[in-house]
Amino acid sequence: MNRHLATPVGRPPAFSYREVRHGLLRRSAGFVLGCDEIPLTRLAERFGTPLYVYSASTIRERMRAFQRAFRKAPHTVCYSVKANSNLTILRLLAGMGCGFDVVSGGELERVLRVDRRAARRVVFSGVGKTREEMQAALRAGILLFNVESESELWVLAECAARLHKTARIALRVNPDVPANTHPYISTGLQKHKFGVPIGEARALYAKASGTRHLKVAGVSVHIGSQITEMEPFAATMERVAALVRELRHDGHEIEYIDAGGGLGIAYEGGGTEVSSIKAGGDARLSITDFADYAFQYAQALLGPLRGLKVRLLLEPGRAIVGPAGALLTTVSYRKNNNSKKFLVVDAAMNDLLRPSLYGAFHEIVPVEVPREDRARETVDVVGPICESGDFLARDRELPPVDEGKLIAILDVGAYGMALSSNYNSRPRAAEVLVDGKSAKLIRRRETAGDLMRYEL
Ligand code: LLP
Repeated sequence: MNRHLATPVGRPPAFSYREVRHGLLRRSAGFVLGCDEIPLTRLAERFGTPLYVYSASTIRERMRAFQRAFRKAPHTVCYSVKANSNLTILRLLAGMGCGFDVVSGGELERVLRVDRRAARRVVFSGVGKTREEMQAALRAGILLFNVESESELWVLAECAARLHKTARIALRVNPDVPANTHPYISTGLQKHKFGVPIGEARALYAKASGTRHLKVAGVSVHIGSQITEMEPFAATMERVAALVRELRHDGHEIEYIDAGGGLGIAYEGGGTEVSSIKAGGDARLSITDFADYAFQYAQALLGPLRGLKVRLLLEPGRAIVGPAGALLTTVSYRKNNNSKKFLVVDAAMNDLLRPSLYGAFHEIVPVEVPREDRARETVDVVGPICESGDFLARDRELPPVDEGKLIAILDVGAYGMALSSNYNSRPRAAEVLVDGKSAKLIRRRETAGDLMRYEL
């Protein structure tokens, strides 16, 4: 993944260390990692491991900071459901006035389950929408279809005609702007399957606007994910703004620009040195850093749009929920193969796929840290799945963690649980939402029975 950060991206203290004191003299016994007010050791006892733990306050703060960064421009934040689609998290965001970016009928169902009226703030993206999905979205009365090809346009027109409805559309244009990110999650180049080439958009808009049951309403774009530099966003908006001017010249009413998502987060830069924990909780930065960063992002997007009267739609996923989640796992075994050391833990690539799939880095920290610094060791953190690709970290320097003890894998709130599977017939982990002093189970751990339920 992209390790070079153009701007300092702060982490909220969703997960931070507290000193533990024992006995009459209140002697320090070391530190324990907590989420908001709750020690993770307590959550592991109560709910077991592997366990996804999210901080509600962090999600709220990040969403608020994001919305505030755009407050000078008419905008709607449409949280990208794919990043984390747990109903409780969607409900929390819907309660803050959020809209939603969905890419499947399933995601739309989730949003409608949480709040039927939120449909008015839903945008539907994706290159392969089916007729059934389009019809469900038309019936729900969503805000905007982001159409990705000419063929899709005609299928949508046909669905809308059948239901006697009008579909508001934007074409998702491919601006041919490179984004410095992992090749699997970069989308804005001509070689990618997404969108229509920006040079062909004008002709396609002309065809669409002549079609009954379709209403041209906007232009949409998304260049990739985990982008931490602002230039690609600004360059993209320059191109989109030029297109909007042309389209208006052609007589189209362009109300919306959907800027997509993609704002990256800092996956590295924490630390568990005892000295840094003592100095100020731990090395993690505050929410104000995120507010600054979101503000820079807003400027990169809004600068090129100056003078254009449009409503901006935003589809952030990772930037809102990523740093708000950790995966809690227990060390099952310590193991040496000659000089190579392994921590075998009870979470695996089915729980968190990002390291195996993208070679992604996630910071890993011990949940309990003794008072004195201990020499670090270099280990691979691996799961029980029968694949060498089943690792959560490779050649990682960690303080020694004993068998039976807990570690936390950080920044997994986005694309963690969402990418999980049942590979090796492993039941999916439970999810817990912490809010201040309370912790609520928001998805129970699957059972072996759940895994076989659909088989005949
Ligand atoms: N809008 C569209 C059209 C998208 O395709 C995506 C992400 C988003 C918004 C949200 O992007 P975000 O703000 O979260 O970067 N599984 C990968 C990420 C895949 C992103 C796919 N599209 C990962 O774990 O890094």
